[in-house]
Amino acid sequence: MLYRGQMIQMNRNPLGDGQRRFFEGSDGFADRLALRLCDRHYFPKKEFFESLYFSRFAQRRIKRLDKERPWVALDIACGHGLTGMLLAAYVRADRLGAVYLIDPHTPTRSEELTAIFAEMSPQASSRVMRLPTRLGAWIERVQEDPVLDGQRFFWMGCHACGELTDAIIAVAIRRREPFLVMPCCPNRRWKGTWPRDLCRPVRADLSALPDLGMAMDLTRLGRAQSADYRTMMRLIDVEITPHNRVLYGEPIELLHPEEATEADEMAIVSMDDETQGGVAGGEESVD
Ligand SMILES: C[S@@+](CC[C@H](N)C(=O)[O-])C[C@H]1O[C@@H](n2cnc3c(N)ncnc32)[C@H](O)[C@@H]1O
Repeated sequence: MLYRGQMIQMNRNPLGDGQRRFFEGSDGFADRLALRLCDRHYFPKKEFFESLYFSRFAQRRIKRLDKERPWVALDIACGHGLTGMLLAAYVRADRLGAVYLIDPHTPTRSEELTAIFAEMSPQASSRVMRLPTRLGAWIERVQEDPVLDGQRFFWMGCHACGELTDAIIAVAIRRREPFLVMPCCPNRRWKGTWPRDLCRPVRADLSALPDLGMAMDLTRLGRAQSADYRTMMRLIDVEITPHNRVLYGEPIELLHPEEATEADEMAIVSMDDETQGGVAGGEESVD
C-alpha cells in the first residue's frame, strides 16, 4: 500500500531499520513515534497501521461531537494500547478528557510503547490510563460509581473480535453514546464480555451467507439503526487487514442539525493522504 507517497509492504514483521524511510522527514506525531518503534524492532508493522488508521476515524468523529464537555474514549480490547494513545495525542484535552485502555491482558513489551509515548508527549500520556480488566466487570464498576457513570464515553473496539464487539455496541446503545468498532473473528467469544444485567443478543443464523463477518456487521448496524442511531460503514486499506470494516454509530439526538444533510467526508481512508486523517489539522494536541 502507499504511505506518504511510498509503497510499503504490509505484514506482521516488526517495524525496523528497513521501514525508517517511510517515516523520516515528517513532523507528524505518529511518524515520529513509528521511528522510535523502528529502533526497538518489536512492534508489528501491520498493527501500527491498523491503530493509526482506526484512530484517525475516531479523531474525526470526536472532533465533530458536541463540545459541551470533554469526552472519555474507551479503547476496549486495546492490546498494546496504541489506538488510544494516538487518539490522546491528536485530540485536545478540552475535547477528549481521558482515554481508558481496557484489556485484561497486557502484551509483552507494552511498557516500551508506553514509555516512548510518555516521553514524546507527557501531556497526552497523562490522560491515558490502562485498566487491566474485562469489559463486563468494568461496566459493572461504572454502574456503581456515580462519578464514572456521569462521564460521556466514546466506545471503541479495534479488532475486539466477535461477541465483544456486540457487547461494546450494546452498552453504547444502552447509554446513548457513540461507538466505533472494526470487528474481526466473527465467532470468537471472550470470557467476561457481558455485564451481568445485559443478555447477549440471540444471533441470527447467517450460515447461508459466504461472508459471515459482513453479514454480522450489517446486523450490528441494523440493531443500532433501530435504536435511532445514525450509522456508517467505512473501509481501511484491505492490505493492512482483511478485517477492515469500520462501523460507526451515533445517537441521532447527538447529531448537529447540519450533519443530517452534509456530504460525509469519511470515504475510504487514503493511505497516501495525511490531511485526510486530520493529522495536519489545527487541533493537534501533541506537546
Ligand atoms: C485481537 S486482540 C486486539 C488487540 C488490539 N486492539 C489490536 O488491534 O491489536 C483482542 C484483545 O481482546 C482482549 N480481551 C479478551 N477478553 C476481553 C474482555 N472481556 N474485555 C476486554 N478485552 C478483552 C484480549 O486480551 C486481546 O488483547
